[in-house]
Amino acid sequence: MIISLRSLSYEELKQNLDKDDKIVIWSCNLCIKYCSLGGIEKANILEDMLIEDGYGVIGKEIVSESCLLNLVRRHKMNKEDIFRKATAIIVLACESGYECVKTVFNDKKVIKIVRTVGVGGLSSFGRVVLTVPFEWTGLDFNVNGYQLYRVAEKLGLYPDFFDAEKKPKSKMVNIMVNGRQYKVKEGSNLLDALLSLGFKIPHLCYQPELSPAGKCRLCLVKIKGEKGLLPACCTQVEDGMEIIAEGKELNHLRKLILEMIMAECDYKILSRRSELQYLIRKYHINEPRFKLLKKTEPIDESSEVFVRNPNICILCGRCIRACAELSGQRILAFAYRGSKTRVVAELNKPIGHTDCAACMACVDSCPTGALAPKLIYQKTLC
Ligand code: FES
Repeated sequence: MIISLRSLSYEELKQNLDKDDKIVIWSCNLCIKYCSLGGIEKANILEDMLIEDGYGVIGKEIVSESCLLNLVRRHKMNKEDIFRKATAIIVLACESGYECVKTVFNDKKVIKIVRTVGVGGLSSFGRVVLTVPFEWTGLDFNVNGYQLYRVAEKLGLYPDFFDAEKKPKSKMVNIMVNGRQYKVKEGSNLLDALLSLGFKIPHLCYQPELSPAGKCRLCLVKIKGEKGLLPACCTQVEDGMEIIAEGKELNHLRKLILEMIMAECDYKILSRRSELQYLIRKYHINEPRFKLLKKTEPIDESSEVFVRNPNICILCGRCIRACAELSGQRILAFAYRGSKTRVVAELNKPIGHTDCAACMACVDSCPTGALAPKLIYQKTLC
């Protein structure tokens, strides 16, 4: 994935705009979304900020792969009206995406807000990191990856979206984890806080860009004063919290939960690079102790760009939330109850026969490979 960081402050962005500009916010929905700079949610935030400051936003265009010239051209043709009216386009896309938009809309003010710093991926803590920096950054290849806020600090860029400039600085509070004191942001997500402190908490249904759902129960922790265990992903940090995040007992429980998750899916055909497979290896599980009699379901190959294999779906719901929260569509949903629960597209149609825009938000979110790009799926079959 291409890694980009914000290069303009909100004030600098506004200096590029006039109050009578008719603004379109163009946002890519792929790599840039993982750098927390793109996607529907960020476009909405920027729209609200600009409107509040008296600017006129006439539209938002969310596109997957803005770095494809043909795709930008096609979008221009399909939405000729708003683009004819627009006088300024703010591009929430990587620098290649920006070049494509600028080429197609060469008669408009096209504003770039990022610098693309290299190529990266997700660390084992589920954080986006930069591993192969571009030469201009002066950074060396780093197999473990550079944390983005450090890269931003070094290069004088911004690690967050525009709204971060408006937020008051969060208060730091003390928490005790496994007997040691730490300072973390008050109100932050406990799982995020623990992962950033270096605790290796397994998690499958949580993804930082999505709302937490507490479905897989892998991130359970003990909190002093609370009955039972709580999912860290659905808990907010409070001052004075005392937490047991790692230990023999929790490890045992997490392994047990993982075995139950494995019993629900055809784990033998999981891709080696999937998050679930990584955890199975990490917890040294060869064969789960539980077996569920599950019917083999047909694979849905109706989409032009991705494949849905319900047999390795673990019902974590990440695809459903990604579809709604990242791409602004609501194509996917849970259907049926109990052991018959399934993820379905619209009213249980093949996904290719729905209004799915193929933005791939669901595919990127899937921790098992139940949703996989068609190209990769076909390669695995060969
Ligand atoms: S990651 Fe917390 S319950 Fe799944």
